[in-house]
Amino acid sequence: MARLGVNVDHIATLRQARGGHEPDPLMAAPLVELAGADGLVIHLREDRRHIQDRDFILLKEIVSTHLNLEMAADEAVAKIALGIKPDLITLVPERRQELTTEGGLDVVEQKDRIASMIRLLHDGGIPVSLFIDPDLQQVRAARKVEADSIELHTGRYANTRGLKDQDTEIEGLSQAAKLASKLDLKVSAGHGLNYHNIQRVTQIQEIKEFNIGHSIISRAVFIGLERAVREMKALLS
Ligand code: PXP
Repeated sequence: MARLGVNVDHIATLRQARGGHEPDPLMAAPLVELAGADGLVIHLREDRRHIQDRDFILLKEIVSTHLNLEMAADEAVAKIALGIKPDLITLVPERRQELTTEGGLDVVEQKDRIASMIRLLHDGGIPVSLFIDPDLQQVRAARKVEADSIELHTGRYANTRGLKDQDTEIEGLSQAAKLASKLDLKVSAGHGLNYHNIQRVTQIQEIKEFNIGHSIISRAVFIGLERAVREMKALLS
């Protein structure tokens, strides 16, 4: 069975919308682990729009499974990460204007920069994954820069409508996963995966882990809403 990493950035996004203390992504950690998740994923963005340094520090203390930190190949964030030492760092591209991570890292284009960031993180004892599009050139480049694993961007697959286009995307993901596995890279995948589109990607045997956030947190709102209203009504009675 594939492993599940739950991305809790979306809880922090809701907290930041009010600028207060709740909902606190720290409270999600034991619940997510109790439910069987294999790890938590957070993205410490340069603009700190959701996860804050304090979240990262405290999550490292309380997560007992696996903490995967997504970050840009940025010296300042790397310095923080090296002090805290998550279990894995996933390097992702970051643009200030984007709503979420839009595409994979261009490892081919930024080979030297990414290789030196990987060396820095490896020197600190942290394994590194690269978030890349399902592109064979990018997979080969990930091997060359000595990444430990890759995370395949499933956003294009998730946005595809119609079986034929979906087949094409699945084939692309499958080829990339097979090549990575042959090159001894561990393979995970994520972005845009939900309760409807997850099934087909689980058929790709080489993908050993899925990182999922938005759909799980969105569903949690509705699964929990009725009980939350009942509890407030009970306080009014
Ligand atoms: N993997 C990576 C590298 C991401 O940047 C994200 C989004 O933060 C995810 C997985 C999770 O994507 P989603 O929230 O769409 O499930």
